[in-house]
Amino acid sequence: MAKPRVLYQCTACAATATKWNGQCADCGEWNTLEETVAVAPPSGAAAGGGRFAGYAGASGIINAADVELVAEARIGTGLSELDRVLGGGLVTGSVTLLGGDPGIGKSTLLTQSLANLSERHRVLYVTGEESLQQVTLRARRLDLPQANLRLLAETRVEAILAHAEREKPEIMVVDSIQTMYTEMLSSAPGAVAQVRESAARLVRFAKASGTSIFLVGHVTKEGALAGPRVLEHMVDTVLYFEGDPGNRYRVIRAVKNRFGAVNELGVFAMDESGLKNVKNPSAIFLSRHAEPVSGSVIMVTREGTRPLLVEAQALVDASHGNPRRVTLGLEQNRLAMLLAVLHRHAGIAMFDQDVYVNVVGGVRISETAADLPVLLASLSSFRTRPLPSDLVVFGEVGLAGEVRPVANGEERLQEAAKHGFERAIVPRANVPKKAIPGLRVDGIVRLHEAIELID
Ligand code: TYD
Ligand code: MG
Repeated sequence: MAKPRVLYQCTACAATATKWNGQCADCGEWNTLEETVAVAPPSGAAAGGGRFAGYAGASGIINAADVELVAEARIGTGLSELDRVLGGGLVTGSVTLLGGDPGIGKSTLLTQSLANLSERHRVLYVTGEESLQQVTLRARRLDLPQANLRLLAETRVEAILAHAEREKPEIMVVDSIQTMYTEMLSSAPGAVAQVRESAARLVRFAKASGTSIFLVGHVTKEGALAGPRVLEHMVDTVLYFEGDPGNRYRVIRAVKNRFGAVNELGVFAMDESGLKNVKNPSAIFLSRHAEPVSGSVIMVTREGTRPLLVEAQALVDASHGNPRRVTLGLEQNRLAMLLAVLHRHAGIAMFDQDVYVNVVGGVRISETAADLPVLLASLSSFRTRPLPSDLVVFGEVGLAGEVRPVANGEERLQEAAKHGFERAIVPRANVPKKAIPGLRVDGIVRLHEAIELID
């Protein structure tokens, strides 16, 4: 038997190296290389044949024109908001990673949808974290159908796969991937190599058998899944739970989806009877102030396929020492850049100020339409001058001080009008040709025009 080859693997990005190094050559992290044993995958383990013969390893070379297309079969999960982030239901044979902080509701969500699914499909819930009693207790308390909700408490992947081969579930949940281990590796469950290898074996099983699998993953403090990038590229869909556990509303975002739109949001409300769909979430992230307050701006974002009204709050305060730029729900570097634009193109300096920006309700905004609202909120706080409470703002700000249009401007404005907003400051190219009843829209081209409008 050949001597097992020793490799060094980065615990942050799982890149491998043949020699130990202080710094990972792939991701640049320090002191992350750990010794592992290189294991060749057992022959024949790769996906081949099976119901999903279109996947890698299944066939020889073929012309694209000759590939037969079968419409992906979609299964409704019983939760319409989950179906929405999945791109219209669960695709058979797909692997979905659901990440999020502990206590945010991953197990609750998957217990609910699996119990719903169990009425029409064969399902299996594999728990490596909670006992069978705990899972059952949750299902009872939520009054979910339990007759066909099949449970397995197991953390050894080989045993799970052996059960699954016999049970032939159509949908399987593995909660969580960090508790799973394969006998092929000697490291402890949760180690990057274990997480990756266990997930790889489950993915192969999904593709070969056509079972749809949900993998639950915990998020580290830095916001990356433990054993991070490795899992993201192996699975078809990556969903993240956002929002803080203290808040009633929970948002699920698709950050990767081979079968649907990315950045699609699903919104849920958590109460004593579990997670409920929020079908019309557009205004739930606004805090209603009795009087207008400075530093608050309502913006219309369009994450995914529907517009959402959210409130950006800024606090600008005299700095003692290094000025701080702190953002929650937004990108920090972008704030620093926007403040530089404000200085150079509008002559307003905040280099001696701490600037804190927060998006209310724990939502994350990843689109540039938040630029103008963030700047106006900062300015409003800096000058202690509230903006009108019936005003909405959106627009991208460029380094030359220009305000650039964003996608779906008219739809955003319609949504604002629907919720009773009467004024909007938006990029000129986003001003609709036909006026929207009840909404006065000011179109601007340069940043200073926006500042003059609110002066
Ligand atoms: P859970 O699904 O166990 O979180 P995760 O699997 O992501 O760690 O959710 C646990 C939290 O949800 C817990 O703090 C209690 C709360 N919760 C409710 O508020 N209502 C409910 O009906 C359930 C089941 C949980
Ligand atoms: Mg859990």
